[in-house]
Amino acid sequence: MTPAYPVQPDLAGHPYFRYRNNVLYAEDVPLDHLAHGLGTPLYVYSRAALKAAWEIYRSAVGQHPVLVCYGMKANSNLAVLKEFVRLGAGFDIVSGGELKRALAAGADPSKIVFSGVGKQAWEMRDALSAQVKCFNVESVAELHRLSEVAENMGLRAPVSLRVNPDVDAQTHPYISTGLKENKFGIAIDAALDAYRTAQSLPGLDIVGVDCHIGSQLTDISPYFDALEKLLDLIDTLDREGIRIAHLDLGGGLGIRYADETPPSPKALLDRVFERLNARGHGHLHLVLEPGRSLVGNAGVLLTTVQYLKHAEARNFAIVDAAMNDLLRPALYDAFHGVRALRPRAGAPTDYDIVGPVCESADWLARQRPLTIQQGDVLAVESAGAYAMAMASNYNARVRPAEVMVDGDRYYVVRQRETLDDLLKGESTLP
Ligand code: LLP
Repeated sequence: MTPAYPVQPDLAGHPYFRYRNNVLYAEDVPLDHLAHGLGTPLYVYSRAALKAAWEIYRSAVGQHPVLVCYGMKANSNLAVLKEFVRLGAGFDIVSGGELKRALAAGADPSKIVFSGVGKQAWEMRDALSAQVKCFNVESVAELHRLSEVAENMGLRAPVSLRVNPDVDAQTHPYISTGLKENKFGIAIDAALDAYRTAQSLPGLDIVGVDCHIGSQLTDISPYFDALEKLLDLIDTLDREGIRIAHLDLGGGLGIRYADETPPSPKALLDRVFERLNARGHGHLHLVLEPGRSLVGNAGVLLTTVQYLKHAEARNFAIVDAAMNDLLRPALYDAFHGVRALRPRAGAPTDYDIVGPVCESADWLARQRPLTIQQGDVLAVESAGAYAMAMASNYNARVRPAEVMVDGDRYYVVRQRETLDDLLKGESTLP
């Protein structure tokens, strides 16, 4: 099916990870060189891919007043953050820890928006001290706490309310956030009252309206279902004398994992600008919070085949990466492409690519036709977003190292954890 909007080829493809002479490269670095030199499992990112994804947003924004805040939960490695700082990005944070990381990377606090349903007082204090641009508040109870915290510091907190517009983002239920049933945001019907409350509280300054309807959206229409409702709300607020300076549409643009045709940022923004103008809101500043679409296809996970196991019903390739390194397949049934770094000739066998963790959910890919042998290294694709960021130490496994490739150079941007790291901070009873 052909989508009714332009699809962005760079966001949809993997142009920075390509074969040359039958060897998979990241930019100008052969990946087997990294696998052999640094070991696997190994996350490898492409700096050029990050820049290209950013450029797609930048050119879609053009001269319009839009602040693009990288949704850093997707990948919060300092080197990745620093790259976005250099490119002029803002950041969407969801915790005091993310604030710390963003500031450590040199982020401009006036370009940071603070999202999340469960902000604690200390996180609010840290963000107020840093002077972030805005708190995206998700409940009336949070409004009260934030006002109190700000007042105690002799400050006023800039706030947007995250409104839940009750639209179906038509994505996986675990990453759909804009429905009534979801824990996120303030129901659109309750938003006016919540804004009145915000206006009455001494420690708050209302600056915006915010929403985020879900992630890995491959259709553009849910954004516009949400947008019309938000503009209705902004009109209502205006009549009440509550002026809104910016509208935050969240993140959520999908990427191509398999054969998806995600809409481009330009397709989204052009229509947003058109709707804003049509409804007399051309002056509104916009904030976007893209995560996945900035980093998802800028990374791969390298993993080595430990054993091939030919069982009666299935063939398994048991690799050294597992669900603790890349949780998405286990958690969301997510598809990630898998390629051999050095493809072999010969008839392929369908393999389930599985890890060593003691869970049946520990799989990375299913039924993939591959011609492989023990010791071969595989690249799991589209592993730049929600991959290392969601890694754990389950089964007392160390988390992988991370490498950033830049042309023909590479930099280890996070060391592989050691077994000693795993024992850090623990003690036994006397
Ligand atoms: N803003 C807010 C408030 C969010 O909750 C999120 C993601 C984003 C922005 C960025 O959304 P993106 O542009 O990346 O879609 N772990 C899941 C995805 C969880 C997304 C959570 N929120 C996965 O691996 O698919």
